[in-house]
Amino acid sequence: MVSRVIPVEPFDLVIFGATGDLARRKILPGLFRRFCSGQMPEEARILGAARSEMDTAGFRQLVAEAVAEFGGGRHCEDGTLEQFLEIVDYEAVDAMGDGGWEALKGHLRDGFVRAFYFSVAPSLFGALAERLRTFGLADDDSRVVVEKPFGHDLESAKALNATLRQHFAEDQIYRIDHYLGKETVQNLMAVRFGNMLFEPLWNAQYVDHIQITVAETVDVGGRGGYYDKSGAMRDMVQNHLMQLLCLIAMEPPARFEPDSVRDEKLKVIRALDPVDYHHIVRGQYDADDNQPGYRVHVENPRSTTESFVAMKCHISNWRWAGTPFYLRTGKKLRGRTSEIAVVFKDAPHSIFDSESGRHRNVLSIRLQPNEGMTLDVTIKEPGPGGMRLVDVPLDMSFAEALGPEAEEVPDAYERLIMDVIRGNQTLFMRGDEVEAAWAWTDPIIAGWQSRGEVPKPYDAGTAGPEDALMLMHRDGRRWREIRV
Ligand code: BG6
Repeated sequence: MVSRVIPVEPFDLVIFGATGDLARRKILPGLFRRFCSGQMPEEARILGAARSEMDTAGFRQLVAEAVAEFGGGRHCEDGTLEQFLEIVDYEAVDAMGDGGWEALKGHLRDGFVRAFYFSVAPSLFGALAERLRTFGLADDDSRVVVEKPFGHDLESAKALNATLRQHFAEDQIYRIDHYLGKETVQNLMAVRFGNMLFEPLWNAQYVDHIQITVAETVDVGGRGGYYDKSGAMRDMVQNHLMQLLCLIAMEPPARFEPDSVRDEKLKVIRALDPVDYHHIVRGQYDADDNQPGYRVHVENPRSTTESFVAMKCHISNWRWAGTPFYLRTGKKLRGRTSEIAVVFKDAPHSIFDSESGRHRNVLSIRLQPNEGMTLDVTIKEPGPGGMRLVDVPLDMSFAEALGPEAEEVPDAYERLIMDVIRGNQTLFMRGDEVEAAWAWTDPIIAGWQSRGEVPKPYDAGTAGPEDALMLMHRDGRRWREIRV
């Protein structure tokens, strides 16, 4: 198999918030793995910037520890870490003041791609963007990378967009949704638009419904303060699930190019109907024998924030009118499964007797774990005794099908950071997309608040509240199993 990776140009990457959790867990180890796989030019430089006073040696130590703890990749040769640390440096910077900016500027080289990663609280975006301009660190070719949460609602997202656009053009702003960097999420587009097989059936005439599940086993961890103000709707649905929905439902873009793809995604969001409140279930995980519940985790005994959401939505356009999309996400569920399932309609007429039962084709795309695709097809049960039908999966695990090259697929962050350096915005959210997504979620959240709704409790290790099951049962359908 010939793999074609577009090389990246030499670059200076400044990471603001370089000592923080995201940098340690994802950004720094991800960069190291790219370095190991030989996809980082020798002249690349990575500059950590944060409030803490620290010298270069101290920061390199932090990077080495982050790589050790969060994974350096399997194919790294001995001594590579030392080489990587050589390209890493650090400068203490005061985001709200003048301290450190001139020194940081002193590290930047002319003629190289410049990218600034804002791995900081959104309240600092404006101050950083302004200082990058006033101290002359950024020019019209520089890129800024911003993390979610991108706002808390439509109003705050608009304000953030306006602040960033005061200093940078839209084509310089890279809004990360790390789900778009996941291998299988991109595969979704390859499957849909690279094959003749699926696209003709990809519409309301042939698809009964679509399910999108992002189930997690983890609790809210040490992020209770943030999470309790967000809930699953803001933390997962407004961004990750919405992006998956867009990719599964959008029209074929004319080209695989940033604005072609993002225009089509935006049309999907704008075509979403407001959600009837009877079609949404919120849940909050309970304590069990061994572990405290959500309210203890977030240290808020009266919290009414949801750690689970299930909903049915509709896209009012020619392709999807009448086909429901069921979305579901939550913490402390039975298993860690992210999956999109396209459930096709029954064959129009069965030539077999009624005892052969009801059989349906289901295409399921697994994002994690064990990335791959399964297509359930109906065949005859082997053996004598008449025609008995049975559904069997045509199962393709990408790791098995593609061999060692798929074994160590780049983590979402690795891929996305390299796309920033390449100047490719296809897998990043445009400002109008983010705003449209908030415009759709805001009324749902406002409705919960005005009705004083309290989430339904659910037991840890289950598939969420009973009502979520009923959401589908009422329609004569059922959720796919969340595998342990
Ligand atoms: C983050 C959310 O964006 O995505 C977390 O803030 C969530 O709450 C995480 O756990 C899930 O990402 P992944 O890649 O582990 O599925």
